[in-house]
Amino acid sequence: MNIRQAVESDFVAMWPIFQAVIAPGTTYVFAEETSYPDAFAYWFAPGITSYVAENDGQVIGMYKFVANQRGLGSHVANASFMVNPRCSGKGVGREMGLHCLREAKKAGYLAMQFNFVVSTNEAAVSLWQKLGFSIVGILPKAFLHKSLGYVDAYVMHRFLDDIQI
Ligand SMILES: CC(C)(COP(=O)(O)OP(=O)(O)OC[C@H]1O[C@@H](n2cnc3c(N)ncnc32)[C@H](O)[C@@H]1OP(=O)(O)O)[C@@H](O)C(=O)NCCC(=O)NCCS
Repeated sequence: MNIRQAVESDFVAMWPIFQAVIAPGTTYVFAEETSYPDAFAYWFAPGITSYVAENDGQVIGMYKFVANQRGLGSHVANASFMVNPRCSGKGVGREMGLHCLREAKKAGYLAMQFNFVVSTNEAAVSLWQKLGFSIVGILPKAFLHKSLGYVDAYVMHRFLDDIQI
C-alpha cells in the first residue's frame, strides 16, 4: 500500500468511496444526496491537505487534515478518514492514521482532535484509542444514526509530542 498526497484528479476515484461510506448513515453526518461538488470541496477546499491510500494503483482509502480552528486554535489539527468498505479490516485505516499523525507532526501541529466520532462506530473508536486518542468529550445524542436513532458523538484527542517523524 502506498499513501501519497491527493491531487484534484484523484477525486474521480475518491467519489465512489465517499458515497459508499456515507450511504449507511452510521458514521458521517453527510446526507446521502450530498453532491459531487460538495464532496469535492470537503476534500479539496483551501487549507485542506488530502491523501489517498493506493493498492496496485487503485485508490482504497483517503484522509484529510486541516487546522481545527483558525488563528489562536490553529496549532491543533483535525482529520477525517474513509476506507473503501470492501477493503475494511485490512489495516488501511491504521496505516492512514499513523501516516496522518506523522504528517501533522511534520506540519508543526501540537495535537490532533477529532470533533465528531460517532460513539457506536466501534471500528473508529477502537482504532483511534489504539493510536493513542482519548475520549475527552461526549456530545449527547448529537448524531442521528440511520438505524439506532439519536446516539452520542465523541470528541477524541491526542498530543503529538511522542510521534516520531
Ligand atoms: C474506521 C475506518 C477508518 C477503519 O479503517 P479499517 O481499514 O477498516 O481499519 P483497520 O483494518 O486499519 O483496523 C484497525 C483497528 O480498527 C479496529 N477495527 C477495525 N474494524 C473493526 C470493527 N469492525 N469492529 C471493531 N473494531 C474494528 C480494530 O481495533 C483494529 O485493530 P487491530 O489493527 O489491532 O486489529 C474504516 O472502517 C472506515 O472508513 N469506516 C467508515 C468511515 C469512518 O468511520 N471513518 C472514521 C470516522 S471518525
